[in-house]
Amino acid sequence: MSRNYYIAGNWKMHMTRQQAAELAQALVNELRDVSKHRYLIAPSFTLLETVSAVIEGTNIRLGAQNCSPEEQGAHTGEVSVLQLKDLGVQTIILGHSERRHSYKEDDELINKKVKLALKHGFEVILCIGELLEEREAGKVEEVCETQIVKGLEGVKASDLSSIVIAYEPVWAIGTGKTATPEDAEAVHAFVRKVIERLYGEDIASKIIIQYGGSVKPDNVKELMAMENIGGALVGGASLKIDSFLPIARFS
Ligand code: PGA
Repeated sequence: MSRNYYIAGNWKMHMTRQQAAELAQALVNELRDVSKHRYLIAPSFTLLETVSAVIEGTNIRLGAQNCSPEEQGAHTGEVSVLQLKDLGVQTIILGHSERRHSYKEDDELINKKVKLALKHGFEVILCIGELLEEREAGKVEEVCETQIVKGLEGVKASDLSSIVIAYEPVWAIGTGKTATPEDAEAVHAFVRKVIERLYGEDIASKIIIQYGGSVKPDNVKELMAMENIGGALVGGASLKIDSFLPIARFS
């Protein structure tokens, strides 16, 4: 069976405009003829305009790494969905573990952002995942279920086609430690079950669930071989053409 995967690069707080334009252009050139997967890159806010100009009209989508929970107004330091839309952003990553844990975003705030992003027609990649101590305490399912249920509270079934879930065990992010394909698959299957309970079988069977956490050229294939893994959210390895291309082009 040939499957399509959704491969996303989260550039986090890296790169200048020139570096971003060069990497984006290299990706456009190299991925131009690859139609089997779906691609996204999510640069910092300051790079969005530059990258947007490079990837517009290509098979690479433009993502933002966050947005304000408010539409506009007196919110110093925040970036609005309206401003993101103006730059050509199509997808917003929300609830990333660095937002949850370093910047103390809770499920309620993330849910507010999810609903606002959907209202404005964005696709949302909702990130979930447990800390190491939560895994060791046997709480993986409880944590992931709570993050899904609260993150999607009030989201209508008709909006689920604009939702992607990214399961990213926090202990695997940027650490070089990847979940084994079997461990990742077990959580992905569980995530699908939670979506089925909330939205029914049809939606659950269609939702894309990405895996994230130290995805590299040498582990992408075995992870993507798992039944419920529908793509990858790639951090560190997305910053260099030499490491992102083999992931993006894997088969
Ligand atoms: P990583 O980051 O690939 O560097 O582990 C993944 C992510 O945070 O999305």
